[in-house]
Amino acid sequence: MRSEEVYEKLKQWVEDNRSHTMLGEPAQYIPALANQDRDQLGICIMDIDGETYKAGESDVKFTLQSISKIISFVALCHFKGLDFVLDKVDVEPTGESFNSIIPFEIHRPGKPFNPLINAGAITVASMLPGDTVSEKYERFILFVEGMIGHSLELDQEVYESEWKTAHRNRALAYYLKESNLLDLDVEEALDIYIRLCAICISLEDLAKIGLVIAHDGYDPIEERQIFSHDVARIAKVLMVTCGMYNSSGKFAAHVGIPAKSGVSGGILASVPPKWHSPEKAFRKGCGIAVFSPAIDVNGNSAAGTMLLRQISEEWDFSIF
Ligand code: DON
Repeated sequence: MRSEEVYEKLKQWVEDNRSHTMLGEPAQYIPALANQDRDQLGICIMDIDGETYKAGESDVKFTLQSISKIISFVALCHFKGLDFVLDKVDVEPTGESFNSIIPFEIHRPGKPFNPLINAGAITVASMLPGDTVSEKYERFILFVEGMIGHSLELDQEVYESEWKTAHRNRALAYYLKESNLLDLDVEEALDIYIRLCAICISLEDLAKIGLVIAHDGYDPIEERQIFSHDVARIAKVLMVTCGMYNSSGKFAAHVGIPAKSGVSGGILASVPPKWHSPEKAFRKGCGIAVFSPAIDVNGNSAAGTMLLRQISEEWDFSIF
């Protein structure tokens, strides 16, 4: 498919899906996210040559929020090995909301169900290499910067806003501590977790990360393996089974792409190579990032999800 056609289609599909922003609203529980412009919808797709295809509000920057969870999982597995991580955090969906405390009460003592719910992500963030929160943050950010090729900033306003209102996450961290799952102090574990959520990112950067995950940890542009195939495989399993929280089943059925959402309105998606239907776009795989801050009841971007659905249906991206 010619590049002009890809651009035309994306432009059209963004406009087709813009009205779905009405099906959600910006996250209210983090004050700094509540005032985001709800009508925005943007997309960036990156192919294996590093070519980017953008449409809508595609030059926005936003905070990673829960998208950081799949990246911190990958980083921790890369640094400490899959066995070490899977010994501390399971790979099962919960059926509860991302910040639920219920699994702790029902399964005690028990490790967090998966690294993409808050309890699992706080545990993962606390285990990043480094003796202090700053060292842990530094090791993580260097890992991500190595993948995207430039430096990243923390959004101080979002960080502070979440830090001041993280009552539920604080409660989760206390549960983790009581279950002997946290080596760090509660406040330190929360600090590193909230810092990762407040990293500012562009759609292009996220699409690059999606591309590397889609290619089993291999960066096809720089031609180097960044993390192992095994880590990428488990990351994709988690994205399919838990990445969209309690919509993961529907997302797998209707979109069928490994993906991870965040409450700021971003979704990271990884489209692996697919060799049939050569007339369709991106047969060698691609990374996709969408952004639209109005989120639905499950915490996923409403219009972003619908846009991904249309793209996947039209270009046959489903892995199933
Ligand atoms: O801990 C929180 O609640 C947020 N920093 C992140 C949650 C999130 O993004 C869930 N995703 N859809």
